[in-house]
Amino acid sequence: MATITLDQVRKVYPGKVEAVKGISLDIADGDFIVLVGPSGCGKSTLLRMIAGLETISAGTVKIGDRVVNEIDPAERDIAMVFQNYALYPHMTVYENLSYGLRNRGMKRDEIDQRVKKAAAILEIGSFLDRKPRALSGGQRQRVAMGRAIVRSPKVFLFDEPLSNLDAKLRGQMRVEIKALQRSLGTTSVYVTHDQLEAMTLADTLVVMNGGVVEQIGSPLDVYERPASTFVASFIGAPPMNLLPLAAAGDGYRLPDGTLLPADGYPQGKAAILGFRPEDVVIGGTDAFSLDFHVVVAEPVGAESFLHGKAGGAGIIVRVHGRTEARPGDRIRIGVPAARLHIFGTDGKRIAHGHISARDRATETQAALT
Ligand SMILES: Nc1ncnc2c1ncn2[C@@H]1O[C@H](COP(=O)(O)OP(=O)(O)OP(=O)(O)O)[C@@H](O)[C@H]1O
Ligand SMILES: [Mg+2]
Repeated sequence: MATITLDQVRKVYPGKVEAVKGISLDIADGDFIVLVGPSGCGKSTLLRMIAGLETISAGTVKIGDRVVNEIDPAERDIAMVFQNYALYPHMTVYENLSYGLRNRGMKRDEIDQRVKKAAAILEIGSFLDRKPRALSGGQRQRVAMGRAIVRSPKVFLFDEPLSNLDAKLRGQMRVEIKALQRSLGTTSVYVTHDQLEAMTLADTLVVMNGGVVEQIGSPLDVYERPASTFVASFIGAPPMNLLPLAAAGDGYRLPDGTLLPADGYPQGKAAILGFRPEDVVIGGTDAFSLDFHVVVAEPVGAESFLHGKAGGAGIIVRVHGRTEARPGDRIRIGVPAARLHIFGTDGKRIAHGHISARDRATETQAALT
């Protein structure tokens, strides 16, 4: 087992594409780190630099106490699982699993022991004699995992290993990979652009965007306190609602002109108001209350999504269970103060649950009742 330490790691590809722009990261021994971000943000590049499959333009990568910048991939004591599995088509499953060990000159008995053990863990023992083409996608994926396990490496690296599987199998394999990593305790770095996969697998989530790290934290921490509007809309499905706020006297003005008096901050400055679809309270709250115009009602079984407009901006509301709401309905919605997020116009988080806002109509109603 090992720690991984990245210090100001950069990658500039030929043609001056700066794919990774100076990333520093401390990965603890046994930690399961997930690098998540949109396509092209540099996840694979960063992983491949840790693996030694890509040269490092600047900065250092350490595995344990050793700087590995100039060390061959084979000498780094890592095992990588790829999206396309990279199995040898002409070899049987047994040969695929044992190939790397034979290459290292390991004794036949020891190889056999390791292969059988990995096969038992992954439940692939019954098709050790088959060639990869005679396996399903999920079975091939297990063989690829097995090939990583037999080596007992210090570090596992995964690059979107589940993206070729259908949704159900992906869900199953996700649970298995997590359980396996827990039981082996091997430091792991896992790349995905799927935020749900990232949330469920990670001990530590690293959200990347445009070659830089936007936020590092536990999945729930990142979900509860996104550092930017980018993270707020990337982590969570459906994404966080974001409404632009113009400064208006001691409060704010929403795009449709609705005024929100603000007891919190920042006052006199444009900002962005955020709240999660599931934090919306039908009927309004003391802190915040707006008219919501339902455009589409989407029942998906255990929950329903209402798409529509509030304050002149597009909003999604998540309702537990079924909903009676129909397109064209107008519903009063609110959000508890502690569930409001405020971002600056630069997208950076500035406050959490500080704003206490009600529109004038509610104030008037409150005054009359
Ligand atoms: N060999 C290369 N030469 C030049 N540019 C490259 C090379 N490989 C990747 N890039 C560029 O570097 C950037 C990061 O690519 P990378 O593959 O790391 O992204 P990613 O986050 O893994 O994306 P995806 O989710 O699509 O796999 C992209 O702009 C990509 O076009
Ligand atoms: Mg990639």
